[in-house]
Amino acid sequence: MAKMWAGRFSKEVDETVNAFNSSIAFDARMYQQDIRGSIAHATMLGEQGIIPKEDAQAIIAGLQEILADIESGALLFDPTAEDIHMFIEAELTKRIGDAGKRLHTARSRNDQVALDIRLTLRDEIREIRALVQQLVQTLITLAQQHTMTILPGYTHLQRAQPVTLAHHLMAYVWMLLRDDERLADTAKRMNYSPLGAGALAGTTYPIDRRQTAQLLEFTAPVPNSLDAVSDRDFCVEMASALSLLMVHLSRFSEEIILWCSWEFKFIELDDAYATGSSIMPQKKNPDVTELIRGKTGRVIGDLTTLLTMLKGLPLAYNKDMQEDKEAIFDAVDNVKLCLRTFDPMLATMRVYKETMRAAAAKGFINATDCADYLVKKGLPFRDAYKITGGLVAQCIQEGLTLETLPIAAYREACDAFDEDVFDAIALETCLNGRISEGGPSAEAVKQQIAAAQAALAAAQ
Ligand code: ARG
Repeated sequence: MAKMWAGRFSKEVDETVNAFNSSIAFDARMYQQDIRGSIAHATMLGEQGIIPKEDAQAIIAGLQEILADIESGALLFDPTAEDIHMFIEAELTKRIGDAGKRLHTARSRNDQVALDIRLTLRDEIREIRALVQQLVQTLITLAQQHTMTILPGYTHLQRAQPVTLAHHLMAYVWMLLRDDERLADTAKRMNYSPLGAGALAGTTYPIDRRQTAQLLEFTAPVPNSLDAVSDRDFCVEMASALSLLMVHLSRFSEEIILWCSWEFKFIELDDAYATGSSIMPQKKNPDVTELIRGKTGRVIGDLTTLLTMLKGLPLAYNKDMQEDKEAIFDAVDNVKLCLRTFDPMLATMRVYKETMRAAAAKGFINATDCADYLVKKGLPFRDAYKITGGLVAQCIQEGLTLETLPIAAYREACDAFDEDVFDAIALETCLNGRISEGGPSAEAVKQQIAAAQAALAAAQ
């Protein structure tokens, strides 16, 4: 394809350089946004009398046809084109002649590309937020079914104190609601129009930046033309929000991987969301979660790419910035893939309540409650802690649990113990006694669920 900037040059660009320089392979996906931006620009040029009104109309009609033809498959992208902006402009001129050549008046590819990325990512954020909110809804629905499904809560991956599956799932709900909020916040700061900044220093034409900003549903124009064309903070912010979202999905995935193992067997994934082994017939592997864990590294890598690409750049536009798109689009695509698979995988998994409960019953996770029992009988906590520690050691030695240790052994350790200790250390008592706000008792979790539902409704 002949270069638009050919006038200055006496030779064709080297083929390898052309391929090296070209971004159409990864920026073609912005064709809708590019056309939308050009229509707004042409409308403004026409209304300001910068180009004839008929030319503006011809441009808009031509762009709409191009859009329809790309969408129907009638128009294919030229892989040798420099980028999507050049491709569409050249196609327009091919179709409507001289009027097409007026479209780029008072515009540069620098403000054009900055505009296209903002428009594209704004759409992507909308899509990703809907997926995150869907996942939050799935988790809330699951939590509602499991407010009495007791399992051990862990610290250091050692059984610690009793919680419920609902309480555990709700922890992820809050992480995801924060992710959703971060994305909304990113979208808010991203929503300023760089169009009209020109190459870097604005233009002498009487353009109306407020009009194009309004046509494209931006809050306002970016206030500084140098910043408008050289700012990619919104890519970094978005990649950062997506990285943290992936870190949350990855931590959750790690738990699912553990929970599906024979050592835990707390859950089983539906056959549609697990895979087998090519050699070991017994295997049922949680590949989906492992891929999510793996792809988290890649999304964090995209964030690093963006930060590193920007750190040495002087103002204003530099071609390094073309690297922004592959990084941020890779993050976007992978996050969407992960969310689309993770959600139905969770919705269809089978929960083994009995195994969870058995694990909770075996790990002395009621030891704190046993100590608290003595505190209620008047002992200082440290003494109560020491006596209970001794009882746990005795149980381990004799192959018993605090529930099966005879009352005589309790009394020998401390005469404040009575038969009612067994009620105090029963799992249900331990759980439902934890009524503090944010705690695992069924009552406290139901309040949490209601608060999360309200937060979700407000976000939608
Ligand atoms: N393909 C380029 C990019 O993605 C478009 C902007 C090119 N601007 C320029 N002055 N060469 O950044």
